[in-house]
Amino acid sequence: MLKVAVLVSGGGTNLQAIMDAIDDGTVTNAEISVVISNNRDAYALERAKKHGIEAVCVSPKDFKDRDAFNQAFLEKLDSYHVDLVVLAGFLVVIPEMMIKKYVNRIINIHPSLIPSFCGKGFYGLKVHEGALSRGVKVTGATVHFVDEGTDTGPIILQKAVAVEQGDTPEILQRRVMEQAEWLILPKAIDLIANGKVSVIDGKVQIAE
Ligand code: GAR
Repeated sequence: MLKVAVLVSGGGTNLQAIMDAIDDGTVTNAEISVVISNNRDAYALERAKKHGIEAVCVSPKDFKDRDAFNQAFLEKLDSYHVDLVVLAGFLVVIPEMMIKKYVNRIINIHPSLIPSFCGKGFYGLKVHEGALSRGVKVTGATVHFVDEGTDTGPIILQKAVAVEQGDTPEILQRRVMEQAEWLILPKAIDLIANGKVSVIDGKVQIAE
């Protein structure tokens, strides 16, 4: 059984999709050990508690500087001895020491087709604002492993979503979530939990 930690900062609809997919058997061989947030007010923490999953907050506000926060966050995460860390709308830059410790064991969902609209400054609604202002006709979502760069790690799954006339960033964000994120994030966890994902020469291969 793959033990998973889900890291969240906000509403937690992706967390909800993962919990639902485990419940209905879409994801097998995986269980969520803990949900950790940097934000005390994240509704995602409520979702976890309602589901009977341990929910904890490690807030940067409680530490004297970023290094102290990073250290405490990593210690908290380590204490659960998980096999996989899932960033589900986690808006904190992952410190290098955590990336080194969890090589190819951290995955992230990003709301665009990487390498478009990703990297520094592209998170949440800003991604969809970028897509609309460029006038792309197709966008989507990407699940990738996390490496030292921002949104640069090996890509596991992507799914395209149409941009429609009259879309606002909010409307497009919702469509990308419904048609892509909530499907491919659980799917990636299922593939990893069932030993179907390997990284070879920096690229992901998925077994049939
Ligand atoms: C999601 O759209 C996720 O892809 C995005 O934040 C949102 C979180 O929503 N993540 C990023 O932009 C990371 N760069 P949620 O809290 O409802 O799952």
